[in-house]
Amino acid sequence: MRFHGEVAVVTGGAGGIGRASAKLLANQGARVVVADIDEASGQESVRQIEQDGNDAVFHPVDVSDYHSVQTLADFTVRTYGGLDIMFNNAGIFGDGAENVINMPVETYRRMVAINQDGVFYGIKAAANVMKERGGVIINTASIYAFIADRNQLPYHATKAAVVGMTKAAALELAKYNIRVVAIAPGMIDTALIDPWREDEHVWNTVQKAHMRRKFGTAEQVANVVAFLASDEASFLNGHEYFVDDGAASFKR
Ligand SMILES: NC(=O)c1ccc[n+]([C@@H]2O[C@H](COP(=O)([O-])OP(=O)(O)OC[C@H]3O[C@@H](n4cnc5c(N)ncnc54)[C@H](O)[C@@H]3O)[C@@H](O)[C@H]2O)c1
Repeated sequence: MRFHGEVAVVTGGAGGIGRASAKLLANQGARVVVADIDEASGQESVRQIEQDGNDAVFHPVDVSDYHSVQTLADFTVRTYGGLDIMFNNAGIFGDGAENVINMPVETYRRMVAINQDGVFYGIKAAANVMKERGGVIINTASIYAFIADRNQLPYHATKAAVVGMTKAAALELAKYNIRVVAIAPGMIDTALIDPWREDEHVWNTVQKAHMRRKFGTAEQVANVVAFLASDEASFLNGHEYFVDDGAASFKR
């Protein structure tokens, strides 16, 4: 067992990477709060974790609302007595339909509210609890923090912000023995990339963006999340870790 009752919160725990991570953390001995705006799918994550004989509970959250994130942190402390691992993972992706010239300002603002503000709120609320006994905060960035695609400007902006916040928070929180790291996944086969699924040409092109020409799976990302959350990663701090089969490393 990697964990011994450590308490983990996973935002975006109703879907792809979040659900796989919540399941793996629980399977390796953590007690998990699955948090998501999608209550039905979040409850399904909990059902699957309990079916494996592990410990989890669902709590609703809208990460774009600080009060909601604070309520989640309070619930976690009330329910499990603390918070050791915060996985700020909830996020949305653009539909790829709009060039920056035509991009509605509201589209940009919504992306910032969820992908960027949501991570800031998660760091702030978690650190307030963790300052007593240390902990680990893992933020989901993306290779899109580092390489550009067309018609996804707001997504790039928010994921680059996640990388910046990770470094700044790691530095500020080090004195509380709180590590802060980020993951930068390549394209992972989850509901997030459904817009690409409809067009076979696009789908195949995106697969080829990886060195071995295949999407990653949520489970492959979860393995890295569980490692980063564990004591095996105790000297890892303030960086992003690519989980992308080299996608951000080569010229296409
Ligand atoms: N799938 C990919 O290719 C990929 C690549 C790089 C980074 N990411 C990032 O990984 C993270 C997880 O995405 P995924 O691929 O598992 O997709 P997903 O759509 O399966 O999961 C995202 C989850 O976030 C939840 N969510 C959305 N808005 C929310 C809000 N306001 N409050 C709370 N929860 C909210 C959704 O309900 C969903 O369960 C995201 O941050 C995404 O940007 C994904």
